[in-house]
Amino acid sequence: MARVAIVTGGTRGIGAAISLALKERGHTVVANYAGNEEKAKAFTDETGIPAYKWDVGDHEACLVGCQQVEADVGPIDIVVNNAGITRDGTLHRMTFDDWNEVMRINLGGCFNMAKATFGGMRDRGWGRIINIGSINGQAGQYGQVNYAAAKSGIHGFTKALAQEGAKFGVLVNAIAPGYIDTDMVAAVPEPVLEKIVAKIPVGRLGNAYEIARGVAFLASDNAGFVTGSTLSINGGQHMY
Ligand SMILES: NC(=O)c1ccc[n+]([C@@H]2O[C@H](COP(=O)([O-])OP(=O)(O)OC[C@H]3O[C@@H](n4cnc5c(N)ncnc54)[C@H](OP(=O)(O)O)[C@@H]3O)[C@@H](O)[C@H]2O)c1
Repeated sequence: MARVAIVTGGTRGIGAAISLALKERGHTVVANYAGNEEKAKAFTDETGIPAYKWDVGDHEACLVGCQQVEADVGPIDIVVNNAGITRDGTLHRMTFDDWNEVMRINLGGCFNMAKATFGGMRDRGWGRIINIGSINGQAGQYGQVNYAAAKSGIHGFTKALAQEGAKFGVLVNAIAPGYIDTDMVAAVPEPVLEKIVAKIPVGRLGNAYEIARGVAFLASDNAGFVTGSTLSINGGQHMY
């Protein structure tokens, strides 16, 4: 059945692939983004998927943004919390601002978007919230105490909200991607990346569409008995 879906950070990288995969399955899709106007415009021109700009770390902006989306395209049935940033550095070098921004956007964004949409889903008796965590939230990663903590928090958030939503038909799941070939991973220095790829049993980085297909499954009626789960899509790098 066709639904209304919003994908945060949905205009590039993994989010763009998710937006497209949901559109291909017949859903009405809206993508949110933070500020890369050029990528957002190119994405909308190419796909016809409208892009809405706001900061998912801003609680009020999420409430207002989701209200606007609902006024434009109808009640939101599916939320994909994909927006995320990195501010890497060992604890020794990491500033409080590096810590706070990652928590505010990566973890706070999930709370803010859920607050804006969960009530409506519950009232209508159907909803899907899919949170994009990370292998580094499961296994930890050197130089990422902020990111690993936020992503690990997403996995806890998912399991707790799943318990609240289940009896109202609102299913909440997470995907923990491994290393996927996007701008975020392009920022990792080449020698570090080579070492990472050497540890992936399938011998390559993942593709954004490999994550998007997992999201499309979790958003579908076929996933009606799946909630509170984390789907690891990581080429076998971390078996959890
Ligand atoms: N790539 C990987 O290997 C990997 C692995 C595990 C998990 N993940 C997770 O998967 C998600 C997507 O990663 P990616 O590699 O596709 O990232 P990316 O290429 O850096 O894209 C990030 C997206 O998030 C948006 N965004 C960032 N901050 C935002 C904010 N405050 N409010 C709204 N949107 C915001 C960006 O918007 P603009 O375009 O406007 O900047 C962009 O659309 C992230 O949560 C990431 O942590 C990625």
